Amino acid sequence: MGRELLGIDVGGSSVKAGRVDIDAGRLLGGLDSVPTPSPSTPAALTAVFRDLAAATVPGTTPVGVALPSVIKRGTVLTAANIDAGWIGTDARALAERELRRPVVFLNDADAAGVAEVRWGAGRDFSGTIVMLTFGTGIGSALFNGGRLWPNSEFGHMELKGVDAELRASARVRTAEKLDFPAWAERVNEYLAAMDKLFWPDMYILGGAISERFAEFAPLLRSQAALRPAQFGNHAGVIGAALAAGDAQA
Ligand code: BGC
Repeated sequence: MGRELLGIDVGGSSVKAGRVDIDAGRLLGGLDSVPTPSPSTPAALTAVFRDLAAATVPGTTPVGVALPSVIKRGTVLTAANIDAGWIGTDARALAERELRRPVVFLNDADAAGVAEVRWGAGRDFSGTIVMLTFGTGIGSALFNGGRLWPNSEFGHMELKGVDAELRASARVRTAEKLDFPAWAERVNEYLAAMDKLFWPDMYILGGAISERFAEFAPLLRSQAALRPAQFGNHAGVIGAALAAGDAQA
């Protein structure tokens, strides 16, 4: 049995938490899920983190938290689908005061990517990898030789005059009732734009839609290999705990 840490992943509708064996890259037991408080202010969400940590892992076990935000040195710089009051908040200082244990914050797609690259779809692969998560928006994580370049925001790359995530996210697919061929065409435009600038060796496609990878993968085109994420909606929780482990090392 390896070292056990807590991972938390904050989404627009739910906050998920799970104990993670960081030496095996897997969840121990199931995921706890609570509704995201509304409004999802720093104080309200930090209280949720505190309660989840107290109920799940004892004492001073470190915690990793994934937010839909750009985060530098523990300070939140953007907020997608969470309260704008997070912007400018020193999340790490606030959480460590409330939880009385080490807390690490990172972007949600970066967390998912860390899990996939180290233990999932990208393990045993050392080239350049871009993880893309298709959900409410498009999250991204960039890796080379297994190392994360944090806070890439490729979902905001401009495509036909708008943010790519406003054309090709899973939310837009549902809202505009796009079938897979129509949605895949938009994803192909996006991949072509990404390929032109970054030439990755592999894309890992995540988010809930990755469960249907077999249906849309034959429609996608890229010079890079395309793989489905392996951890599904557990990836953010697992990656957040792995990041908390890295910070201890
Ligand atoms: C945000 C990213 C986030 C992604 C997925 C985007 O809108 O800008 O920070 O990773 O959504 O939640």
